[in-house]
Order: sequence, then C-alpha cells, then structure tokens
Amino acid sequence: MAPIVSTQSITAESGLDRPSEYPESLKSRSPNQELLPLTANVNGDVLEIGGCEVTALVEQFGSPLYILDEETLRATCAQYRDAFKHYYPGETQVLYASKAWSCLAVCAIAASAELGIDVVSAGEIRTALQAGVSPDKIYFHGNNKSRAELELAVESGCAIVADNWHDLETLAALGSSKTDRSIRVMVRFTPGIECHTHDYIKTGQIDSKFGFDPNSLDDVFKFISKQPCLSCVGVHAHIGSQIFELQPHDDLAEVIVETLTKAQSYGLPATEINIGGGLGIRYTEADDPPSIEDWARTVCTAVVAACDRQQLKKLPKLLCEPGRSLVGTACVTAYTVGSKKVIPGVRTYLSVDGGMSDNPRPITYQSVYQVLAAGKMSAELTETVTIAGKHCESGDILIKEAKLPECQAGDILAVTATGAYNYSMSSNYNRVPRPAAVLVKDGEAHTILERETDEDLLRFDRLPKRLGT
Ligand code: LLP
Repeated sequence: MAPIVSTQSITAESGLDRPSEYPESLKSRSPNQELLPLTANVNGDVLEIGGCEVTALVEQFGSPLYILDEETLRATCAQYRDAFKHYYPGETQVLYASKAWSCLAVCAIAASAELGIDVVSAGEIRTALQAGVSPDKIYFHGNNKSRAELELAVESGCAIVADNWHDLETLAALGSSKTDRSIRVMVRFTPGIECHTHDYIKTGQIDSKFGFDPNSLDDVFKFISKQPCLSCVGVHAHIGSQIFELQPHDDLAEVIVETLTKAQSYGLPATEINIGGGLGIRYTEADDPPSIEDWARTVCTAVVAACDRQQLKKLPKLLCEPGRSLVGTACVTAYTVGSKKVIPGVRTYLSVDGGMSDNPRPITYQSVYQVLAAGKMSAELTETVTIAGKHCESGDILIKEAKLPECQAGDILAVTATGAYNYSMSSNYNRVPRPAAVLVKDGEAHTILERETDEDLLRFDRLPKRLGT
C-alpha cells in the first residue's frame, strides 16, 4: 500500500523534524494543509480512508456517504491543544466551533481531546451536553438568542457570549433573583479588522451583525458591573473564516487585549480573551493555508506581546474557537455516478446522487472542491468533466472542472475536504434525505449519523382533514 503523497511540501516549520521536547502531536503533518485525511491510502485501484475501502463503505452504508476519519480529527484537536499549551505561558482552552459539524460523535471526540465547544443554538447546546461536554467548557454564541435558549444555557451552566443589548437585558432579567454572579458572560465586540475571504463569512469589520460596536463598550461594561447576577469573565472577537493570512490575528491580539484592560478598568473580573477561529484549509492543490502550529504560534506570541505592552499583571486565559480547520479535511463525501451527458465540443456532465443538499458550499460561496475516482485511483486522468448534483437547479454543480479517468454509471467519486459546513448546512431540498455519516478507524467503520429515509421526510407533514381524501 503506497501512502498518498501530498504535493504540499512539508517544511521544517510544520514540524516533522522537531526536537524531542516538542509535543508529539506537532511532529506530524498539519491536517488543514492536506487535501485528504491523514490515513488516506491507495490500495491497488482503490482509495482507502481509515483503513476502509471507500468503495466497500458505499456498498455497506449506501450512497452518498460522509466518511469521517477519526485519526485526522484527533490529530487536529491535539495539534491545536498542544500548540496553544506550548506557545502560551498562561492558561489556554481550545473550543471546537460546532457549527462546522454538530453531532454527538464529533463533539465527543473534541471533548475527549480536552476541547470545549462553541455553540450557537439550543440544538447545538443539547448536542454538546449529550456528547458529555462539561457545561463550564460550553460557550453560547449568537446575534439573536431567544429567551428560551438563554434560559437553557444559563440553567445548564454554560458561559454566554453576549453579542448585543438584547442578550444583556434578557440575562439580567433571567438572573434577577440571583446575587451570586453565577452567569458567566464574555463580551463580543467587532474589532474593526478586515481580512480577505468571502464577503458572507467576514465578521470582524465594523459593519457586521455580530458583536457590540466598540464605541458602546464603556456602556456595556458599566451595565454589567451593576448586575449582581452577571460575571464578565472576558472578551471575545472573531474576524472571519477560511483565512490564509496570519496578520489579521496578529493585529487582533492588540485590540482584544486593549478591550480586556478596558473591562478590568470597570472592576470586572475579566481574565479571559477569545480570539475566535478562522484558520483556512486546503480545498484544492492551489490553496496554501498556514499550519495549525503557525497559526497558534502567531496568536500566542501576539497576545503575550500585547499583554506586555499593556503592562498586564497576569496573562489572561487564552481561548480560540476553530471549526473548519478541526474537521474540514477529516472527511470525504462519496457519491455514485449516474447519468452522463456529453455535449460534443461544449462539456461533459457527470451527475451524482447528491449535490447542493449535502454540500451547499459551491452554490452558496462558489467554493471549489476536488474529486477522486475512488475505485480507479491508478487510472490515467483522461477526462475533464463537470460534476453535477441531482437537484432541480442549474446551479447545482459540485465541481465545474474535474480531471478524472473515464467514469460511468456506478463509479464511486470521493469529494475531498467536506467535513466543515457540509452536513451542518445540508438541507432536504427536493425532499432528498440527508446521507449517512460513518466514522472510520483502523479498518472499522461505525455509523455516526443514520441515513434519513423518505418516511423521515414526511414525519412533520400534517394533512388537515378537509384536504384528505
Ligand atoms: N467563532 C465564531 C464566532 C464564528 O462565527 C465562527 C464561524 C467560528 C468561530 C469558526 O470559524 P472557522 O474556524 O470555522 O473558520 N458556512 C461558512 C462558514 C461560516 C462561518 C461562520 N462562523 C462556510 O461554509 O464557509
């Protein structure tokens, strides 16, 4: 079995020849820089992930299929955890931004690697709790949390990332009978830092729906200091997603530490800063994101330097909350080819049995993905085709230009780097059931999400009597 060699060169920076005192986890490749999960192998003609043949997995579990590699997910968790511990002399806590893929198994794996969880809805809170995540490591975000959601978070003992006045006023009302400052609050603000990514996933600029306008922070801290039930444990900022530059996070450190000292100047016990997530991953050969270690080193060094400049007596606890770079490249989606339409001189469409319902990212953000013919790995790439989804929408194209060997109905394709924001943004468009997901490791595969059925799709339908036959 020959390991698939990534074309990405592995530099000394990314850790292969580290001295022995380096954390073990940082000695391996940074999974966010790889196109395929770390365990990917070619066995004869067949692509294997986690010791399982992709084609055999489809035979056993059906198609389409999300295939999640446990080793890769564990590696990213360990690299974030260990890099933050290694490069930051104070206390650290990595949170998994579960919006990237919220389900019991992914949350449980993150938690077993000592990660906490960032959640944005009651559904994500309940998933994290049921996965066994300790509530003191759950941080509840969102720009429009309902009273019921806040109640659930407070009663469960989660920390709340206050995003706006509505949050603060609802929390103050919820805790009005309490005087023990038991509601832990982080204050999220917009740091005014721009980064180069898709407009929809930028969040750090002043014109954003998320977080307090920095000009309102004096009033915010004053308000919190007067609420006996609220304890302001720190401040939070997140600048965007799929970012390949390190400079914006370097800049963010200064702004966030400054904001922490402002909170402290109001007598608040603010001792935590959360620098958000945002590290990009490799979707195509052309992508070249920094490694997890480089990102962590940049963030930690910048925070320490900023604390120095601001003459903080004690280093704050440093939190971050990556999503995409933890789970993105740990997963491939397997599809089965169906129809093939050849328009001579124009284009060849290969249609698969999924599409924008299991991966809405190409149609939403024009995201580019790569694909492999999972059962023809040693065949020559002789065709350039368009991989089309099965949905009734011309824009339902998964990949505009894919280089593949000659494929026909029944062939299995594997689209890479589909772990982040694929399942979590999936839909039932055209009443197509969501695919199953399996977790693979050492040649074993376990279902972590059952395939939806047509019956599931009808479960919430009601036919008023007068419409019945
Ligand atoms: N923290 C906050 C407050 C966030 O809003 C996000 C992502 C993260 C952390 C995690 O960011 P990451 O490390 O995953 O970049 N659906 C879009 C991405 C939306 C990101 C939303 N917020 C996509 O598919 O590209």
